Amino acid sequence: MKRWMKYIRPYRSAFILGPLCMIVEVLGEVLMPKFYAMIVGNVKLELGGGRGSIAYVVGVAALMVLTALLMMAGGIGGAYFGAKASVNFASDLRMDIYKKIQKFSFANIDRFQTSSLITRLTNDVTQLQNFVNMLLRMFLRTPGMLIGALVMSILISPQLALILAVSIPLLLLLLLFVVKVGFPRFTAMQGKIDALNNTVGENLTNIRVVKSFVREDHEIDKFNVANGDLKEAALAAMNVMIFIQPIMMLIMNLTTLAVIFFGGRMVVLDGFPIEDFTALLTYITQILMSLMMITMLFMVTSRAIASAGRITEVLDEKLDLDDENAKEKDRRVTRGEIEFRHVGFRYYKNSPDEVLSDIDFTIHAGETFGIVGGTGSGKSTLVSLIPRLYDVDGGQVCIDGVDVRDYSLAHLRDGIGMVLQKNLLFCDTVEGNLRWGDETASAEALTAAAEAAQADNFIRTMAGGYAADIERGGANVSGGQKQRLCIARALLKRPKILILDDSTSAVDTATEAKIRETFRTSLKDSTKIIIAQRITSVMDADRILVLDDGKIAGLGTHDELLANCPAYKEICTLQFEGKEEAQNG
Ligand SMILES: Nc1ncnc2c1ncn2[C@@H]1O[C@H](COP(=O)(O)OP(=O)(O)OP(=O)(O)O)[C@@H](O)[C@H]1O
Ligand SMILES: [Mg+2]
Repeated sequence: MKRWMKYIRPYRSAFILGPLCMIVEVLGEVLMPKFYAMIVGNVKLELGGGRGSIAYVVGVAALMVLTALLMMAGGIGGAYFGAKASVNFASDLRMDIYKKIQKFSFANIDRFQTSSLITRLTNDVTQLQNFVNMLLRMFLRTPGMLIGALVMSILISPQLALILAVSIPLLLLLLLFVVKVGFPRFTAMQGKIDALNNTVGENLTNIRVVKSFVREDHEIDKFNVANGDLKEAALAAMNVMIFIQPIMMLIMNLTTLAVIFFGGRMVVLDGFPIEDFTALLTYITQILMSLMMITMLFMVTSRAIASAGRITEVLDEKLDLDDENAKEKDRRVTRGEIEFRHVGFRYYKNSPDEVLSDIDFTIHAGETFGIVGGTGSGKSTLVSLIPRLYDVDGGQVCIDGVDVRDYSLAHLRDGIGMVLQKNLLFCDTVEGNLRWGDETASAEALTAAAEAAQADNFIRTMAGGYAADIERGGANVSGGQKQRLCIARALLKRPKILILDDSTSAVDTATEAKIRETFRTSLKDSTKIIIAQRITSVMDADRILVLDDGKIAGLGTHDELLANCPAYKEICTLQFEGKEEAQNG
């Protein structure tokens, strides 16, 4: 509860005024039948030749009009404050979840899956919003009506009210059934919505792959399964409602019938006033209606509880990567020397095999450092430890002699420009995308970075140049162009450490050579780490690290490695032989 107070407190006036307005409405609702009975009573006097008074009727009618107006005001106020409170509640909650997700590490996100996070942020928050809205409008109104009508009917005729002693327990029994059977089914349904969203999310993210492999049918089958599951779960939940509502109606009708029967008898035999009899009928209906409403409230509550649980999971997720214990928060990366000290790492903490084991070497400041190795050998994993995309399990990664965990995350990542292997652009202009590197960069700096990455030429040929729009995920530029934009983005940061993870794989060799040349001239002082599949991309680096299955297989210059690293020699032979064959053939 304490957690939710945070979202209630700023809007407490709405949270209080909403239910108060509803009380006004409910008071009116309880009084109306009484007024009605008063008029009928007067008319009866008149008909019976008594001394009915028209002034009295007009007076009561005026009172009824006034009550109706007050009820309207109460209704509008209740709806207004209810909407205000619940929408604000949801909006603040969404913001907090979003902020929390921004702090998530890759590992945290891996654990939840992207689409599940989206469902929680949207659908689950909406469930809570509906719940809060309904709660504010029904919370006092329904019990108020129940109690008010109950009191009125007991006042009118305790004997007839006794009929309720039979029907109310029956209705409560049904309520219990909803709690016991309905709740778990709604929770299950929410889980299935998650699964469906996962399927759709993955399909849409990878739609290009789906189309190129003509896997639409397979995807439709997958969707069909998820959709079918959701259908079953929804039907199971609905089935509860299917039974509940007609049974409730039956109980209501039987109760009304009983009241009419016994009440009618009393009117005929004991002279029970007809106006009290009609008023009582209305009150009985009100009582039964409010009980039905409470059942509905329980339904919404059960969905809200399931959603609240899923939201709390996100808000309470332990961040496995933060800089709260950083010892040197003010320190910035100055030289760019990187040391791996006996580093061990695994993605799945309970798996016996390490992805990286006993990695121990130093990259000097300002050095151009190549990393090669077979696919899956751990190259991307190794460099992702430098800006703390993941944390080491054993050993240490140090920059300028200080453990990366002792920098503030902002300062650490500020000093590092990284082009990820799976690079991405955003829906924005070319310039907007480049400015991720430096928001305040001048136009000259922007073009300089693009030129260095050999991107300036093709940007100028795009319609709009630097103002041209990039589509989601960079869909409207080629693979090589995307890579060059990503390099320019990283260069604009003027980082002390530049990491290129297979970032020129889609760029032709001549252009790649030009990019490397500009690194040498314009990034002289920065440490440059280049991961590549092509030996030619790293051949002239100061030193090259050879990774094999998560272990260091060699470290040295191209010539040194050729002389004494069999793994490196093998890669070279394969690539150069392949080339010769291609040339000969
Ligand atoms: N997010 C992840 N979760 C779990 N395992 C992962 C993850 N990323 C990589 N791995 C595993 O870690 C190992 C090393 O992967 P890594 O991406 O570092 O290889 P790589 O050398 O960069 O390969 P490539 O040349 O294909 O890019 C692989 O066995 C891979 O399956
Ligand atoms: Mg990789």
